[in-house]
Amino acid sequence: MKTSAEIRQDFLDFFRSKAHAIVPSAPLVPANDPTLLFTNSGMVQFKNAFLGSEKPPAARVADVQRCLRAGGKHNDLDQVGYTARHHTFFEMLGNWSFGDYFKKDAIVWAWELLTEVWKLPAERLLATVYITDDEAYAIWRDVIGLPESRIVRIGDNKGAPFASDNFWQMADTGPCGPCTEIFYDHGAHIPGGPPGSPDEDGDRFIEIWNLVFMQFDRQPDGVLVPLPAPCVDTGMGLERLAAILQGVHSNYEIDLFQALIRRAAELTATADIENKSLRVIADHIRACSFLIADGVLPSNEGRGYVLRRIIRRALRHGWMLGQHQPFFHRLVATLVEQMGAAYPVLVEQRQTIEQALKAEEERFAETLEHGMKLLQTVLGDEGSLAEKQRQVPGKTAFTLYDTYGFPVDLTADVAREHGWGVDMAGFEAEMERQREQARAHSKFAGSAMLPADLVAMLSPTRFLGYEQTAAEGVRVLAVVRDGAPLVSLSAGEKGSVILDATPFYAESGGQVGDTGELTAAGVLFKVEDTQKLSGSYFGHAGTLMAGSIRAGDVLDARIDTARRQAIVLNHSATHLLHAVLREVLGTHVTQKGSLVAPDRLRFDFSHFQPIGREQLAEIEQRVNARIRGNAEAEIRHMGMAEALEFGAMALFGEKYGDEVRVLRMGEYSTELCGGTHVNSTGDIGLFKIVSEGGVAAGVRRIEAVTGQGALDHIAHEAGQLDAVSELLGGSRGDVVEKLRQLFDRQKKAEKELESLKARAAAGAAADLAASAVRVGDVRVVAARLENMDAKALRESVDSLKQKLPDAVIILASGDGTKAALVAGVQGRALEQVKAGDVVAFVAARIDGKGGGRADMAQGGGEDDARLPVALGEVARFVQERFQG
Ligand code: ALA
Repeated sequence: MKTSAEIRQDFLDFFRSKAHAIVPSAPLVPANDPTLLFTNSGMVQFKNAFLGSEKPPAARVADVQRCLRAGGKHNDLDQVGYTARHHTFFEMLGNWSFGDYFKKDAIVWAWELLTEVWKLPAERLLATVYITDDEAYAIWRDVIGLPESRIVRIGDNKGAPFASDNFWQMADTGPCGPCTEIFYDHGAHIPGGPPGSPDEDGDRFIEIWNLVFMQFDRQPDGVLVPLPAPCVDTGMGLERLAAILQGVHSNYEIDLFQALIRRAAELTATADIENKSLRVIADHIRACSFLIADGVLPSNEGRGYVLRRIIRRALRHGWMLGQHQPFFHRLVATLVEQMGAAYPVLVEQRQTIEQALKAEEERFAETLEHGMKLLQTVLGDEGSLAEKQRQVPGKTAFTLYDTYGFPVDLTADVAREHGWGVDMAGFEAEMERQREQARAHSKFAGSAMLPADLVAMLSPTRFLGYEQTAAEGVRVLAVVRDGAPLVSLSAGEKGSVILDATPFYAESGGQVGDTGELTAAGVLFKVEDTQKLSGSYFGHAGTLMAGSIRAGDVLDARIDTARRQAIVLNHSATHLLHAVLREVLGTHVTQKGSLVAPDRLRFDFSHFQPIGREQLAEIEQRVNARIRGNAEAEIRHMGMAEALEFGAMALFGEKYGDEVRVLRMGEYSTELCGGTHVNSTGDIGLFKIVSEGGVAAGVRRIEAVTGQGALDHIAHEAGQLDAVSELLGGSRGDVVEKLRQLFDRQKKAEKELESLKARAAAGAAADLAASAVRVGDVRVVAARLENMDAKALRESVDSLKQKLPDAVIILASGDGTKAALVAGVQGRALEQVKAGDVVAFVAARIDGKGGGRADMAQGGGEDDARLPVALGEVARFVQERFQG
């Protein structure tokens, strides 16, 4: 039996022998391709090579590519686990020709590998060709010798499933072409018909290898533009092939899955190894682990949301198996054992994967239970409904999504199991309503939103602040307060002045708004903040100190340049920090939030554990090295595609216009950014981390200072050090030594104090014993001691007891108001009096209470002043007992 590892190796060896260069698998997240969520086939990393805009690594290439298909054209998530061959994650064996060989070699080599190397029986193989592709048809018939009964022409018929129409395309746009597909017949005992027949969707005839003859680039309008040269793109599913070579029917029975399924069964205590939920979990742990390894983290949008959906689907299946505790992340170890050798990234990222999954499990665990209850209540209603009305209402699906974190496909999954649907239109309507509310409550709302009729009259503010810090003769477009236009602003009033052009930066991208002054003869307006109103009008918010301002006025604008300069240093330092974090901690680090203020920068990013002191020092040191590197900060404007090609880091989930502004600081950092920056990194001067901490699950925060702020910070700390050394009577240099000496002295002093106290207590006990009053054969001690707590009193009573075999003892200690009492009685005294009685006797006289055993009791009172008198009466009290 061939293992999956051997199959990978055979494939690569075979194409190496046909002069192919072997390249590594690309990550699941396509580099710089905003048109595609995930690498969905082997050709993705060569897209530009087909289009001719990039040089291929060689004219002939082969690889084993990790792929992900989760929803969309190529795969339906809800089928995964329930069929023999649907997966989210899978491996694709592929070989490529970039303008080198074409149809004949591609087909001949495929046949040779299948039938000669792997010895698949020829009579089990079929081929499909694109309906008009006579050339491919002829190669199969004449060169390979495949009987015509097993060559099927398949059309581009619109109704056919995407993958079976024999015209392959990566996505709605991009490289595409006709293909020929090789099918394997699993045998008559499995239901299903050959390709092109009405029951082709059965599991008997399985497509194993797709050979695409890449010839076109599909444009957004659908037009097919010929590629510079005809190419070959092939893809063979490793899992399907392994199923054949390992003599099993379902992909889930191959070696790669069996270990995972067994482990999932263990972790969920499931006896039935055939349970479909185990398959779902085994499939999903592969997808989720590789996604995280390739830098995706669970979130509520884009790639992160696909990941979250897959994780939650797996967790729901775990839940169905009765596993309500986090278990999913524990499968990572098994996956690493299985696939770590072929994909070292899994080994490298193992900790991140486990932590991210665990965090997501813990988060979802809180709501899964409640969400399932809610859903089951709805699904329990079926008795009252006709079949076609069995729809989970959109509102419920939305509540499940919004409150319980159920992706809607998860809700649909559960509903389907009960024969129900989901009112998707209703769900979408609720989603839209929420989006609208979010828009209304966004920071552009309220005072930040201008009335539409005003906006219609204005042209957007021109921002001059990249080049200049002051501008003369700018015009007031409007004066507003709380979003409503004012006729004019008078001295003493607050408001927001909208200008046609301004050097003031309005808050965005984390950088705070500028402050400064607007002036004219007799007019002074203090700008306290600058915000964008209705997106593109710069509102200068502040107070009019003198004069008046109305629309049409002409003013001079001047920002607070020292403050701006401090902001600029912090902003550029933020970019350096971002790049260094990715270097030091790993590329899973992505920006989660940023504040760039004059006094500090705050950067939130994805990372799972606290950053140790040494690592933090390394981060700080590297940022400073770059500052000293003094690279020029270059700003360029370019198209988004060009920017990504240029290596610019775009923030995930951010929207960018057609033209983007790219800031590049030497080799260190290239990011899309609209903010204001230094001329060269040396301007930053110094970068000092002030704090590091966690802000949410998987999100850390670093706060830092730069330039003068960093010097001030250091000066402040040095000042504190000086104050400490002064107190210690030394200098900065020996403060540690002095402090250590001080601690040592203190420790010694404490020890001495302890032993003195013990000696004093023993001495006091001896004195007290000597002063005991005799009542018959019994000694009575009733005394007030200074500064003792109940414990110390007890100890003293105990040591007195050792000296006086037949005794009644009561010791008290007071602080002027309250008093504590401890009494002990032993020996013959016990025949007449109990410790509790003695405490009660004294307590009653000092407004207190107490009690305890016959030989030991304690209590307290509120009137320390009466204590001496009360204690003075104890001997008489004892005597009366003896006489009584
Ligand atoms: N790119 C082709 C496929 O994915 C080979 O089927």
